[in-house]
Amino acid sequence: MGIIEKDLAAGPFTEWAYKVRSLAGRRNAVILAHNYQAPWILEAADIVGDSLELSRKAAETDAEVIVFCGVHFMAETAKILAPDKTVLIPDLGAGCSLAASITADQLREWKAEHPGAVVVSYVNTSAEVKAESDFCCTSSNAPRVVSSIDPDKEILFLPDMFLGAHVERVTGRKMNIWMGECHVHAGISPADIDNRLAEHPKADIYIHPECGCASHALYLASSGALPEERTHLLSTSGMQSSAAESKATEIIVATETGLLHSLRKNSPDKTFIAANEDAVCKYMKMITPANLLSSLENMQFEVTVPRDIADKARLALERMISL
Ligand code: 13P
Ligand code: SF4
Repeated sequence: MGIIEKDLAAGPFTEWAYKVRSLAGRRNAVILAHNYQAPWILEAADIVGDSLELSRKAAETDAEVIVFCGVHFMAETAKILAPDKTVLIPDLGAGCSLAASITADQLREWKAEHPGAVVVSYVNTSAEVKAESDFCCTSSNAPRVVSSIDPDKEILFLPDMFLGAHVERVTGRKMNIWMGECHVHAGISPADIDNRLAEHPKADIYIHPECGCASHALYLASSGALPEERTHLLSTSGMQSSAAESKATEIIVATETGLLHSLRKNSPDKTFIAANEDAVCKYMKMITPANLLSSLENMQFEVTVPRDIADKARLALERMISL
């Protein structure tokens, strides 16, 4: 039994989880948790997933209250897609360095420099930025969204430069790319991948397309230094499903380390190795057992989006979902 499993089975967790689950029932609340959340939160949640899956579940739920265990832009997305529900986040400070890398004013200025361009925004953006966008995309559907755009149109892609470079490579489409990055993923370097590969030469490699190492790993794959079939660019949930089906016994995982808990739990026959143990998102970890409980007890903290912004942002999200 690993440390995580032992801790989860311990008395205090059981008591806390019981309180959380019974309060969620009394409040008619659904608890959604992103794949990067801490193990305790993942175990207590109703639904665990990547940003797109959780947005969809938020839109479909019958619950009156959505408690979003993730970061602020994700809770905003839930509110945009489910405007009549009460959306709560246990800590309003749970931001995202990538979403913070572009403001609506900066986007308006960029659009003014490229009149007529189509704006594609990764979901890691504020509601106001989404409202200024034509399409939203996630890490799993970004190439599909970009390929659907009229080839004669200029594209502004934001805010992640690594995801943008990946989409350009996959679609062969030249784009204007905002130079934003997630500090956690940018911190996973080509050297980290080289070191892990030297230690585990037969391992498969799973890379989130926001990673600083993404281009390097693809270069290694295309130059033959790394078999292409062992290098996979995947969203957080894409990693879960690929691992479940994979024949590999060792998998190097280049994303936030929170994902390792579910990977190990769902595929106990495999060894998962963090590309960089320090890839921890402090914003995701701001959701704690204590503040999840008080969120349900005190119905705090409510996430709101002004109606006009939500209506425009919803269009960009629905264009993505309809693809
Ligand atoms: P996913 O959409 O793959 O879950 O990624 C969200 C995110 O914030 C990555 O850091
Ligand atoms: Fe944002 Fe990066 Fe944290 Fe994901 S890991 S929520 S992109 S700061």
